[in-house]
Amino acid sequence: MIMVASGGEEIERLRVHYLGKKGILAEIAAEIPKLPPEDKAEIGEVFNDVKQAISNALGAAQTNIQATNSTTTVDTSLPGVKPPLGHLHPVTKAIEEISSIFEKIGFVRVRYPEVDWDWYAFESLNMPKSHPARDDIETFFVDAPENSRYGKMVLTPQTSNGQVREMERLKAPPIRMINIAKCYRRQSDVSHTAMFHQFEGLCINSDINITNLKGTIDYFSQQFFGPERKTRLRPNHFQFTEPSFEVDVICDICLGKGCRLCKEGWLELGGAGMVHPNVLKAGKIDTTKYSGFAFGWGVERTYMMKSGIKIDDLRLLYSNDIRFLTQF
Ligand code: DAH
Repeated sequence: MIMVASGGEEIERLRVHYLGKKGILAEIAAEIPKLPPEDKAEIGEVFNDVKQAISNALGAAQTNIQATNSTTTVDTSLPGVKPPLGHLHPVTKAIEEISSIFEKIGFVRVRYPEVDWDWYAFESLNMPKSHPARDDIETFFVDAPENSRYGKMVLTPQTSNGQVREMERLKAPPIRMINIAKCYRRQSDVSHTAMFHQFEGLCINSDINITNLKGTIDYFSQQFFGPERKTRLRPNHFQFTEPSFEVDVICDICLGKGCRLCKEGWLELGGAGMVHPNVLKAGKIDTTKYSGFAFGWGVERTYMMKSGIKIDDLRLLYSNDIRFLTQF
C-alpha cells in the first residue's frame, strides 16, 4: 500500500506554533493587557482577526489533505481493471469469413449499389416486367423518377443485380465475382428481416459446367461448415439460370440421419445454376464461347447453419441487444 505523504503532521506543527498554549499568539495575547487603554480595543480586534484567519487557513489545509489522501491511495497488489472490449457483429464476421474463403480460389469481392435500377435487379436477369416470378420477391420501390432505359429505382431485393454489372465492368471473361451486399424485401417474421445480406457468386469462362459449380459449393461448405457437411443439388427454377438448383447442406445436428429440426437430414442453403444465355447476352458476353455458373445465398441463413449457432428469431441479430450480441 502506498500512502502519498499526508502533510497532516506539518499542519499540526503550525497549529501548535501559532495557536498552541505556548504559541506566538498566546505570547502576543499576554502583552495586550499591558497596552495603553485607548489602544486596547483596536489591537484586540486585529488580534482576533489574525487568530481567526490562521485558524481558518489551517482548517482548510487539513480538509484538503484529507480529500487528497482518500483519492490517492493506490493498492498495486490488486489485479488491474479491464475495460469492456467490443467485437465485430456476427454477420460482419460471417461476411469476412465468406469473402476470404472465396478469395482463396480466385473470386474477387465486389460491391454494387444497394439502390439500383429495375434493369439490373430484374429485367437483365431474364425477368421481364410482367413475369410472375417477380411477385415472389417483395420489392421496395423508390419514389424517384423512372429512367427511360433502366426503369424504376428499387432497393436491391437480391445480390444478383451484380451479375450484369460485373460483366459490364470486366467486359470479357474470366469473371470470378463474389458480391456481398444488403438486400431488402417487404418481409418480417422469425426467419426474415426486411434488411438482410446475400452473397452472390458468378463464374464465367470457357468450358464452365455443372461440375465446376458443384466443386465450388463443396469447397465452400467444407471450409465454412466443416469437412463432414456434404452438399447436394436439387432441381429448381430460377429465371436467370438454366438448369437451376436448390443447394442443400447436411444438417449439423443429425449429420444426415434426419431429426426434428431438418426432417430428412438436409438444410436448404439457397439457389444456384448455370447462367441463362439471356443474362450473358444482357452483359454482352459471347454465348458461343463462354458459359458460367452463379449462386446466391443469404448470409444470415448460411451463418445459422454453422454447427452450434442456433438463433430462434433472426430479427434478434438486428435488435442491437448487447445481451444477445455478446454471446457470439
Ligand atoms: N437471387 C435469388 C434469390 O434471391 C437466389 C439465386 C438463385 C441467385 C440462383 C443465383 C442463382 O445467382 O443462380 O432468391
